[in-house]
Amino acid sequence: MAHTPDAHPQLKSEQILIMPRPIRRAILPVGGLGTRFLPATKAMPKEMLPVVDKPLIQYAVEEARAAGIEQIVFVTGRGKTAIEDHFDDSFELRETLSSRGKTAELESMTAMVGRPGEIAYVRQQEPLGLGHAVWCARHLAGGEPVAILLADDLVLAGKPCLKQMVEAYQETGGNMVAVVDVPREQTGRYGILDVDKDDGRLVSVKGLVEKPAPENAPSTLSIIGRYILQPEIFDHLETQERGAGGEIQLTDAMARMIGTTPFHGLRFEGQRYDCGDKVGFIEANIAFALEREDLGPAVRERLRSYIS
Ligand code: UTP
Repeated sequence: MAHTPDAHPQLKSEQILIMPRPIRRAILPVGGLGTRFLPATKAMPKEMLPVVDKPLIQYAVEEARAAGIEQIVFVTGRGKTAIEDHFDDSFELRETLSSRGKTAELESMTAMVGRPGEIAYVRQQEPLGLGHAVWCARHLAGGEPVAILLADDLVLAGKPCLKQMVEAYQETGGNMVAVVDVPREQTGRYGILDVDKDDGRLVSVKGLVEKPAPENAPSTLSIIGRYILQPEIFDHLETQERGAGGEIQLTDAMARMIGTTPFHGLRFEGQRYDCGDKVGFIEANIAFALEREDLGPAVRERLRSYIS
């Protein structure tokens, strides 16, 4: 919705000018090779790995929708058609569930598919890095700020992580990333913030470094796979400069916007599981199963026998 005086007659024009633009679109890059999960990911996308009984990508789509996202762009690659099928109607399944009276399952399948046209797909021909994947979606971003969600970062939270970010963004505008504190020895695995001011919840950022060695890391605050970025990010990605690991890094493009665009990290409420890593993925399965009313007690009981 445009923030015009007609749309909000109660607002003065100077207030209207500083209202951040709403986040209506999300980009979900799923073009990576998922080499850490071979052989599981040879013929199946990493993002289709299930946590309990739901693929990682579905958690990300549900989180986006819960944050008010209206349009979703998947950046896919070769071998990722299972993701398109997952979010498509399945006539046979629908008929079978209906004839067997499985109403709850039928409703959840229908809700998952979404409205026609809500999801668009663009292909990343070569997995040249996360920055490159995001840039591939530039024509579908509509010149608006976008949310970016990486499905392999799964967050267990009362209020979904992206919703917390959208609410914080109403205060700050600009660019925002979700952040967690990591042990110093792990900084080489993540994008790390150079902190300007930190009020315990919101952190204003004066620099970003992708995968710094522990001794060079400016802090231990790591970016997780949740971003709100202004459309100028696509101009900065246009240069296609290679960064850490020879990949086109989103972090490098974001770093170039610091100084011209407000930039904040949000310490969200919730627990993040790095499902791109085997231990994190197994931990997520346990944590999400324990949360479930139908599974939690039985899983807890079984786990006890392993610990003893
Ligand atoms: P990762 O850095 O985890 O890479 O990507 P990966 O290829 O998926 O996995 P490994 O390291 O080989 O096991 C983080 C997210 O960015 C997407 C991935 O699909 C994943 O959701 N991505 C990464 C792309 O879409 N394109 C790329 O070129 C790289």
